[in-house]
Amino acid sequence: MTTVGTAAADSGGGHGAPGQGDPYFPLSGNGGYTVRHYDLDLGYEPATKKLTGDATVTARAGQALAAFDLDLSGLTVNRVRVDGRTAHWTRHGQELVVTPPHALRKGATFRVDVAYSGVPQYVTDPDGSADGWITTDDGAFVAGEPQGAMSWFPSDNNPLDKASYSFRVTVPAGYTAVCNGVLDAQHTRGGKTTFQWRQDQPMASYLATATVGRFDVQRYTTASGIPVYNAVDPREAAGAAPALAKIPEILDWETKLFGPYPFSAAGAIVDDAHDVGYALETQTRPIYDRAPDVSTVVHETAHQWFGDSVSLTSWKDIWLNEGFATYAEWLWQEQHGGDTAQATFDHYDGLPATDSLWDFPSADPGNGANIFASPVYTRGAMALQELRDAVGDKDFFAILKAWAREHRYGNGTTGQFVALSEHLSGKHLGTLFHTWLYTAGKPATS
Ligand code: ARG
Ligand code: ZN
Repeated sequence: MTTVGTAAADSGGGHGAPGQGDPYFPLSGNGGYTVRHYDLDLGYEPATKKLTGDATVTARAGQALAAFDLDLSGLTVNRVRVDGRTAHWTRHGQELVVTPPHALRKGATFRVDVAYSGVPQYVTDPDGSADGWITTDDGAFVAGEPQGAMSWFPSDNNPLDKASYSFRVTVPAGYTAVCNGVLDAQHTRGGKTTFQWRQDQPMASYLATATVGRFDVQRYTTASGIPVYNAVDPREAAGAAPALAKIPEILDWETKLFGPYPFSAAGAIVDDAHDVGYALETQTRPIYDRAPDVSTVVHETAHQWFGDSVSLTSWKDIWLNEGFATYAEWLWQEQHGGDTAQATFDHYDGLPATDSLWDFPSADPGNGANIFASPVYTRGAMALQELRDAVGDKDFFAILKAWAREHRYGNGTTGQFVALSEHLSGKHLGTLFHTWLYTAGKPATS
C-alpha cells in the first residue's frame, strides 16, 4: 500500500495522498489535485463484455506533485501520459499511481491520459450491494454510488471533487449508450454507433453513467424548456410509461418547491436489471433497475437538487441526500391527494423502539454498510418533518430553497444545514437536530 503523502517536501514535489480521508471510504478520492474535466472515450462490446477506454483527465495541482493517484479498480492499464508525455505508473489495489516525467508545479493545469481495457468488474459495497459497471443480458447498468465509478474509468472518486464531463461511447449498431447531460451527436458507421454526450455542470464521479443496452428512446422538450431523453428497456416499457409520463410535472413541481432545476437536461434510464435492487440519481438522468413507480421518480428527481447539485462532503452526511429525497416523496403524496407528511411521520413514529428504523441516528450511520438503511432515509425525512413543525411552512420551504441555492454545484455538511435552518428561522434548533440526527435510539415525541 502507498503511504499517505504530504505537501511537497522539496522542489521536486510530494506524492498526492491516495485518499481524501473519508472515514467510510478512506481510499476514495485522492489528494494533491482537483479535476476540471473528464473526457471519456469508451467502446463496449456486450457480447464479450469488453470495455476499451481512453480517459483524458484535466486537473489542477494543488501542491507540487512528483506523483499522484487516480482511483481505478480492475481493468488493464495500457498507457498513461501526462501532458502528452509518457508517464510511469504502477497499481496498488484501487490506486493507479502516476509519476509524470517532470514534477508538476503547484497551481499547474495538467492533462492525464489513461488508455485501458478489459472486462469491468463491479465493486461490492460494505452493505453487499453491487455498484459500478454491472453487466446485464443486453449491455451494462452503470451506477456508481458510492464507489463504483472506479470500475469503469480512472477518477478522483470522491464527491468533493466535482467536474464537467464529456463522453464518446461506441457500441455495436442496435445498442444505445446513455450518459449524463445532453446528447451532442450520434452516428453509425461500419456497424457501430457512437454516442456523444456532454455534462457541463459539475458532477461527482459516482453520478456518472454510460449505460448500454437495447433501449427504446423517447425525446422531447418540456414546456419549461428542459430537453428530456428517456431510454427504456422494451421489457419494462409498459410498466414504466405512467411514471415516466409524469417527468415534466415532477420537474415543475420540484422547481416550485426547491428552486430552479440545476441542470440542462433530464430524463430516465429504465433497465431490466432487477438483481441490482436499487435506482440511482445519476445526474440529469436517473437510472432504474426496473419500471419505477411515481414515488421513485419523485425521489430520484429530488436528488438532482439534493445530492447531485448540492453534494455531500462526507458519506456520513448521506441523510442530506436520502432524507431530503424521501421527504420529497412525502410532500408529493401530501400535495397529490395522499397522506400528509405529518401523517407519514406519525406512521413511522408508531414503530416500536426495537424497529431497525431506530438502529442509529441519521447523521451518524457509523460505517459504510449503513449508508442506505432506513435510519438515513426515513428517519432523515422525519428529522425534516420535525424541522417543518418547529419553524412552520414558510420558513421550512425557504430553508429548502436556500440550501439548494447556497450550495448549488458544490457541497454541504450537516452542520451547515443546521446553521442555515437556525439563521433563516431565527430559532434555536440544536436540541431538535441533536435528537433526530445524532442521538441513538428512538427519539421521544409527543
Ligand atoms: N441513492 C440511491 C437512491 O436512494 C441508492 C443507491 C444505493 N446504492 C447501493 N450501492 N446500494 O435512490
Ligand atoms: Zn435516494
